[in-house]
Amino acid sequence: MLNVKRINQVAMAFIVAVVLSGLSETAVSAGSKPRQFKGSRLHYYTQLDVRSPGISTAFLRPINTTLSRNFGAGTLFALNVTKEVASTSKLLGSVRGYTVETSYLGFPDSWLLEVAFVEYDDGKYNGTLQLQGLAQQSLTELAITGGSGSFRGAKGYLVVTQVVDSLPTRIFRHDLTFL
Ligand SMILES: *[C@@H]1O[C@H](CO)[C@@H](O)[C@H](O)[C@H]1NC(C)=O
Ligand SMILES: *[C@@H]1O[C@H](CO)[C@@H](O)[C@H](O)[C@H]1NC(C)=O
Ligand SMILES: *[C@@H]1O[C@H](CO)[C@@H](O)[C@H](O)[C@H]1NC(C)=O
Repeated sequence: MLNVKRINQVAMAFIVAVVLSGLSETAVSAGSKPRQFKGSRLHYYTQLDVRSPGISTAFLRPINTTLSRNFGAGTLFALNVTKEVASTSKLLGSVRGYTVETSYLGFPDSWLLEVAFVEYDDGKYNGTLQLQGLAQQSLTELAITGGSGSFRGAKGYLVVTQVVDSLPTRIFRHDLTFL
């Protein structure tokens, strides 16, 4: 049963809705609810400058290098996401997360767990993406396990390709496919 307070709230919400519907519809929807992403593909570039504070290999120390090599070592990162390969091209957001070494055998038997999220805003689509998977030297494919805003409920995968390897700069292209 609705009490009086609840009825007043409903009435108020209705009045607000009526008033707002008199305004331009796009003006109302733009800020509050980003447009749902409808495409099946998306790509962008991530910018790594190893001199910047946006990467830390001291995030987690190996547990015991004598006994278990690099097991437990963690790297934390926060990288810019850009529209084009040039670091000066349009800034779309960031990718932030960490990798943790889960193998106690050492290189080349490295099993790096990567967990990250992407903050993305290209002016049309705006939201976050959750990523998870095995980071590898040659081919990294991560699962897109979800998202928010324009990417609410996202499912798919992301392939990482290194396009620039010129220290202190490394640039990676992310190709996303939504299922
Ligand atoms: C994108 O979403 C964020 C978080 O909800 C918000 O702060 C920001 O204003 C949005 N950008 C645009 C252009 O609407
Ligand atoms: C690493 O493990 C070895 C073998 O158990 C042990 O002797 C050594 O003290 C450990 N080192 C550290 C830093 O805990
Ligand atoms: C990331 O973008 C910000 C804002 O444009 C810029 O100040 C910063 O230098 C960029 N960082 C890297 C590592 O490119």
